[in-house]
Amino acid sequence: MKIRVLGAAAGGGFPQWNCNCHNCKGFRDGTVNAKPRTQSSICISSDEGNWLLLNASPDIRAQLASFSPLQPARQLRDTGIAAILLMDGQIDHCSGLLMLREGCPLDVYCTDPVFEDLSRGFPIFPMLNFDTWNGGFRRQPLSLETEPGFLIPAIQNLRIHAMPLTSKAPPYSPHRDHPVSGDNIGLFIEDLSSGGTLFYAPGLGAIEPHLLPWMQRADCLMVDGTLWRDDEMIRQEVGVQLGTQMGHLPQSGPGGMLEVLDRLPADRKVLIHINNTNPILNEDSSEHAALKQHGVEVAWDGMEITL
Ligand code: MLT
Ligand code: MN
Ligand code: ZN
Repeated sequence: MKIRVLGAAAGGGFPQWNCNCHNCKGFRDGTVNAKPRTQSSICISSDEGNWLLLNASPDIRAQLASFSPLQPARQLRDTGIAAILLMDGQIDHCSGLLMLREGCPLDVYCTDPVFEDLSRGFPIFPMLNFDTWNGGFRRQPLSLETEPGFLIPAIQNLRIHAMPLTSKAPPYSPHRDHPVSGDNIGLFIEDLSSGGTLFYAPGLGAIEPHLLPWMQRADCLMVDGTLWRDDEMIRQEVGVQLGTQMGHLPQSGPGGMLEVLDRLPADRKVLIHINNTNPILNEDSSEHAALKQHGVEVAWDGMEITL
């Protein structure tokens, strides 16, 4: 399985267009040593011909321009994206669908709560359901039964197990404060030809017992890297909520993501969906050095992993 990180940042990207926090300002004036990052999305493939797009970021146009296997090659109108799967209904994970409308019909796999949110709170599915866009996206159901997993017909050799995460529905969702199973999911993906396995959960807000056996089995863990500290956005005066209130598990501290990752045997441990306030973006920071000591990597746009 080939994984290509299209975008590694959380909502807003890095640097964020209107932000003067330590990292964003420091990136612009050259005093912070960091790579710019677009909003989080990856694509995966077993044959490097048909790609599964995991989330559709608002930065999708730049991301497609940066990765030629997704560009048209075989006919007048064409894409390497064979199907799309949404991990949640968050704006930074779904609004790229609007930019992909010219490529419809395309299959979009998502859970029932995400489909509901994208039909009412942020009605992308009904908005595009017109002849102009060949009827828009074809929603495909996504089952949270983890055994025996499922295959996507257009994607060769990848068996997918989807599991519910306790996290948050998007701020616009009618049930933002009343989470339901399927608002956010994690995936365990197995390449049936190479045997390589990935656990992907960019919105991993809590480590629940039903996730651990999958996390223990995975060769590569790619998980929520939003914040270093739970109160990071409050301390930097750019927000009023704790990370945990937004459904994100911080990296540092007791019970934090680093402690969790330390106990798991995966060969690759990668943080993705990094918020622009996070000190791990600064490659000269002590937090970045601490990650290295723990064998944890920070995803970057263009990173590729083969499993
Ligand atoms: C999040 O990850 O918490 C959301 O993407 C926040 C947002 O919509 O900006
Ligand atoms: Mn987000
Ligand atoms: Zn910032």
